[in-house]
Amino acid sequence: MKNKQLKVVSLFSGCGGLDLGLEQAGMDVVWANDVDHTAVETYRFNMKNSTVIEGDIKKIDVDEIPDCDVLAAGFPCQPFSSAGSRKGVTDERGTLFEEAIRVIEAKKPLVVIFENVRGILSTKNLDGSLLLDSIVKTLDDIEPGYVVNYKLIRSSDYGVPQQRYRVIFVGIRKDLEFEYEFPLPTNSQEDLELTVGAAIKDVENLPNQNDVWEFSPQSKKLIPFINEGGSWKDIPYDKLPPRLKKIRDNMKKYRAPNFYRRFSRNEINGTITAAATPENCGIIHPTENRRYSVREIARIQSFPDHFVFVGNSLASKYKVIGNAVPPKLGQVIGHSIIEQLSTIDVAKLNNALNKHMQLELFDH
Ligand SMILES: C[S@@+](CC[C@H](N)C(=O)[O-])C[C@H]1O[C@@H](n2cnc3c(N)ncnc32)[C@H](O)[C@@H]1O
Repeated sequence: MKNKQLKVVSLFSGCGGLDLGLEQAGMDVVWANDVDHTAVETYRFNMKNSTVIEGDIKKIDVDEIPDCDVLAAGFPCQPFSSAGSRKGVTDERGTLFEEAIRVIEAKKPLVVIFENVRGILSTKNLDGSLLLDSIVKTLDDIEPGYVVNYKLIRSSDYGVPQQRYRVIFVGIRKDLEFEYEFPLPTNSQEDLELTVGAAIKDVENLPNQNDVWEFSPQSKKLIPFINEGGSWKDIPYDKLPPRLKKIRDNMKKYRAPNFYRRFSRNEINGTITAAATPENCGIIHPTENRRYSVREIARIQSFPDHFVFVGNSLASKYKVIGNAVPPKLGQVIGHSIIEQLSTIDVAKLNNALNKHMQLELFDH
């Protein structure tokens, strides 16, 4: 495969974490969509060569979406997340993946990339079957069918300074006659570059470093008790609010939650979540009694320093970053797709493109 950039359409694109990674790998994101205003504002500010449309995907006709070689869709994870209500497919948002299917049916891209949270591995349909199996089967049923592989990936295995687990699906159109293989890890968990200390160093004077969302008055009182590398377990019992005392009194019943985790400079940070609260993610700076800044969590998510988060709401900036696929992970996946496609016979590729879409062909 030569002289052809794979054209990507990105649904549920958020602020562009996955899309930036795919571009860094050499793909061309031609069209993106998200319903969230801050996400779209940030996307538009940074991804200057892509068209991004703000709006509900359910209201967008497929004729408004350009043809593509790759369809990426990080459909919302809340319905499947263990931090969320776990209503799974009974939640209305759980059906948003069908919107991705609608676009795939119309565009028949060569490659499909889905991203979701770990909880999707055990999410059941109303009839008790696994949602995963129906995703694979649905893609198999779309003419000419997709061979889908999925994997639970730890982002830090691929150079992201964060222990973030996500499930990635890659489907390859059947007439290309090959199966995608996930790349081998590029990093060891002992790599110093992955530590919090390395990730957040030299951030002074960078954009978004002064964007620091204040903790609640209650959290502000508790955090000074927590040691670097510690958690709420460092807080003396008599200083805890009644709600947390109740949990401390019966840790077994509450499954020993690890609230208020404060990662040390020698550790790899845990998952940065969209809510960015100390109860549900390691968001406390290791040595200062404050939340990580917007730039610091962007670093932990592997966004480059030139990628700027815009908008008026601080909480929304944390949300779009917490929702993102780390660009570095997107780059690794994108690169592996390009490499594996390049091993396919060009005539076969062009034949596949000709058969289903009038897409630009590959050069010999
Ligand atoms: C997990 S995030 C995707 C993150 C993105 N892949 C990235 O790497 O930055 C899911 C996104 O779906 C968007 N979303 C939810 N419902 C939507 C809808 N009906 N139409 C369009 N976007 C929607 C949310 O605003 C959110 O940004």
